[in-house]
Amino acid sequence: MRVTIFGTGYVGLVTGTCLADVGHDVICVDIDQAKVDGLNRGVIPIYEPGLEPMVKANHAAGRLRFTTDAEVAVAHGDVVFIAVGTPPDEDGSADLKYVLAVARTIGRHLERQVVVVNKSTVPVGTADKVRATIAAELASRGAEFGFEVASNPEFLKEGDAVNDCMRPDRIVIGASSATAVDKLKRLYAPFNRNHERIVVMDVRSAELTKYAANAMLATKISFMNEIANIAEKVGADVEMVRQGIGSDPRIGWHFIYPGAGYGGSCFPKDVQALAKTAQQYGYDAQLLGAVESVNDRQKEHLFELIGRHYGVASHDGALAGKTFAVWGLAFKPNTDDMREASSRRLLQLLWDAGAKVRAYDPEATEEAQRIFGERDDLVLCDSARATLADADALVVVTEWKQFRSPDFQRLSQSLADRVIFDGRNLYHPDEVEAAGLAYYGIGRGR
Ligand code: UGA
Repeated sequence: MRVTIFGTGYVGLVTGTCLADVGHDVICVDIDQAKVDGLNRGVIPIYEPGLEPMVKANHAAGRLRFTTDAEVAVAHGDVVFIAVGTPPDEDGSADLKYVLAVARTIGRHLERQVVVVNKSTVPVGTADKVRATIAAELASRGAEFGFEVASNPEFLKEGDAVNDCMRPDRIVIGASSATAVDKLKRLYAPFNRNHERIVVMDVRSAELTKYAANAMLATKISFMNEIANIAEKVGADVEMVRQGIGSDPRIGWHFIYPGAGYGGSCFPKDVQALAKTAQQYGYDAQLLGAVESVNDRQKEHLFELIGRHYGVASHDGALAGKTFAVWGLAFKPNTDDMREASSRRLLQLLWDAGAKVRAYDPEATEEAQRIFGERDDLVLCDSARATLADADALVVVTEWKQFRSPDFQRLSQSLADRVIFDGRNLYHPDEVEAAGLAYYGIGRGR
């Protein structure tokens, strides 16, 4: 099938590449000329395992093309995806300016019947707005073409996006006509093998499904962080509690890892946006507010542990003279993305307290450089070991695999204050303490 995708961010680029990989003829369109030029030369703007060779192979095979020419792109697709960003507005609701700009562009160039599909995470009711926007553009030039706006939310995880896209656990299609459902079913047939993964529903339910999925996952994390904080107070170990509850299939093992708080471009924004939507419809979504505020507090928790160890309460200059080795800056492993990352809050709190930071991340160094710029109190190192030079303490913020089994004896010799703050509970406290280091984890009663 012929497919057009507006937006070459995470969602658009991964979706376009995967659709091309199963044989569809895909054009990705973006307003960013430099990005499009780069993609045509094989330069991938994001770090995503497995994506680069797939883009190059499908581009070389002519099934995946990149352009800034919206007219050509709209003329191409039987299915036209909108996969542009929906950043949070000042009040937390999703800003639809990019989505609606694409809708106007589609309306301006549409010359035949198509199915327009929202893949961006958009509030309930957006498909109606997109439909109205396209219809207004068509009307303004006296054109009349049958088109439908469907919702097909994306559930990919950064760092595992290609796999999620190629082997989806479900494909949600929200559409109101049999024609649109049929088209999308044909489009996704190559991904729908062995057992049925397609769930067909009305458009509003599909739009809400996306938010419900992310809000549920964020709720699990905040819940566990809350239990961790209680565990810390009562002298229990949340890691034991986690193992004690995860085996109940109604609870499950996934997404019950306590830590330094969730980040990324999705959970924080989507929890807020869903609460905002509820509010706009006159409903006070109390649980969602709590999920968000627990997470916000959790991002400061590592710093509180540091303050507890050093016996300092105030932020102002309390840690002057101290240097912290920080392992991990990305919001999670296998990405260079630092949006809403817990590391950002931690670094700011350390700096406010007068401390210096030597940080290492396997992928996010460039991004950190861009965000923080040059500063006297930050050294971005090119290895985990390099962060230890002159460091007093180690803080682990992101659970990259390579941080899992450090040489604790060496750490004990390198870190002047002989202390590790483990923001992702990667280590066994006994093992760390056996090397003569003090250990602080999340919710571990010490
Ligand atoms: C999330 C969802 O997992 C995807 O299903 C969804 O499609 C995507 O948002 C989206 O809306 O586009 P992503 O933001 O890439 O994906 O990241 P996750 O892997 O879900 O991690 C989010 C954060 O939660 C990370 O900061 C991670 O460290 C934290 N986390 C995760 C925990 O603190 N504990 C856990 O048990 C799991």
